[in-house]
Amino acid sequence: MNNNYKMCFTSTNVAVVYKSRYGSTKEYAQWIAEEIERDLFEAASVTGQYLEQYDTIIYGGGLYAVGILGIKLIRNHFESLKDKNIIVFSVGLAKESPEAMEDIKEKNFSEEMQQTELIMLRGAFDLEKLSFSDRMMMKALKRKILLKDPKTLNEEELGILQCFENPVNMIRRESIQPIIDRVRKEQRIPAECKDLSGKE
Ligand SMILES: Cc1cc2nc3c(=O)[nH]c(=O)nc-3n(C[C@H](O)[C@H](O)[C@H](O)COP(=O)(O)O)c2cc1C
Repeated sequence: MNNNYKMCFTSTNVAVVYKSRYGSTKEYAQWIAEEIERDLFEAASVTGQYLEQYDTIIYGGGLYAVGILGIKLIRNHFESLKDKNIIVFSVGLAKESPEAMEDIKEKNFSEEMQQTELIMLRGAFDLEKLSFSDRMMMKALKRKILLKDPKTLNEEELGILQCFENPVNMIRRESIQPIIDRVRKEQRIPAECKDLSGKE
């Protein structure tokens, strides 16, 4: 990273907070914190009150049965964090779509949080690495899908079945770009900063 690029992120303080079960979200969170050169925290190591000192909070959590891991850290403290710039990212297998976004927001965001930005990133899946309970959950999901008429299966259901055949890894560093762009925008970074990075 060149020095001009660093200068683009000196105006406000940003915390990147994550909760990850198998490492996908952790990897994205580390990349984001590295790119913007800001503080990185595991969700369990901070409180909502501690986050009040930050102007921008980027929260990432793995997606399990449409639930974002650890999102209660933000949801339960939203009253005191609502004037901050909050960006939430979920990491799952599902592709981003308006329907998936709506489902995730409905399940994880309180009514007051509905305007909070949500970005869906894609993670990884390896049946062999799952805990016993996660493997049982996935097997139950597989059984449910197999009971359906194969002709009616949607892209997501077919994707889940494929995950049982081979490990999947859709983690890509370039996927963090919308989050980086959003942080730049929140900090009112002039457009010429983008040119200085030599990355765009
Ligand atoms: C039990 C279980 C449930 C899952 N549920 C979802 C889901 O509802 N939507 C989705 O897109 N991905 C789902 N996934 C995939 C995970 O979100 C994916 O593996 C992600 O990379 C996990 O992130 P982490 O390693 O940071 O915890 C599920 C995985 C497991 C094991």
